[in-house]
Amino acid sequence: MAESAPVITIDGPSGVGKGTVARLLAARLGWHLLDSGALYRLVALGARRRGLSLDDAAAVAAYARGLPAEFREAAGGGEVRVLLEGEDVTDAIRTETVGNDASRVAALPAVREALLDRQRDFRRPPGLVADGRDMGTTVFPDAPLKLFLTASADERARRRHKQLKEKGIDVSLPDLLSEIAERDRRDRQRAASPLVPAPDAVVIDTTALDIPGVMAEVERHVRRVFGPAAGGG
Ligand code: C5P
Repeated sequence: MAESAPVITIDGPSGVGKGTVARLLAARLGWHLLDSGALYRLVALGARRRGLSLDDAAAVAAYARGLPAEFREAAGGGEVRVLLEGEDVTDAIRTETVGNDASRVAALPAVREALLDRQRDFRRPPGLVADGRDMGTTVFPDAPLKLFLTASADERARRRHKQLKEKGIDVSLPDLLSEIAERDRRDRQRAASPLVPAPDAVVIDTTALDIPGVMAEVERHVRRVFGPAAGGG
């Protein structure tokens, strides 16, 4: 039964490294992966392409409900390919413009509601690692392990800058910092599913940690909750 599959939720602000940690953890455990941010990005990109106004909540929610998207999971922790109407948009949804548009459509309660079942459908045996902002509070409130990653805004901007640079995209660091701050503000202050840790979430400050350091901490909690055989070593 889908409901009985275990879920680990990983929430936190933009640029904190959730995506990488979620992908590594899912690969390590052999579990499915939900990148919920990609769903909001797909809605934003698709709505724009259809010429919808991002302020038209009813139209954007209707589009989100029938979102013509598909995720192709890669074996062994490779990048998940994301298709929109059959077109590979894996890279197209990663731009800062789409990220900002995603945070606008994500503030619309009707859009969040429209994506709920779709996100819960990812919960299948043997388990799911779900990455987002409200995985532990709204989408999977019964998850046995909820993680909330944080890092200072400066550090997150620096990480995002490095990531974009590696992809050959040159953005100014101060611009990135102000965009991250604006997106954080919108994500934290919205009425529908704001970005907050669930009361039972484990908060991990990653400011001074590299990815292996974060993974060691995450795996310690995985073993604590799921037993010594889980969470790698
Ligand atoms: O994580 P990512 O940067 O891809 O998410 C893009 C935007 O989608 C976020 O800034 C946030 O506004 C929104 N989002 C959300 N709830 C989620 C995942 C993402 O509101 N569970």
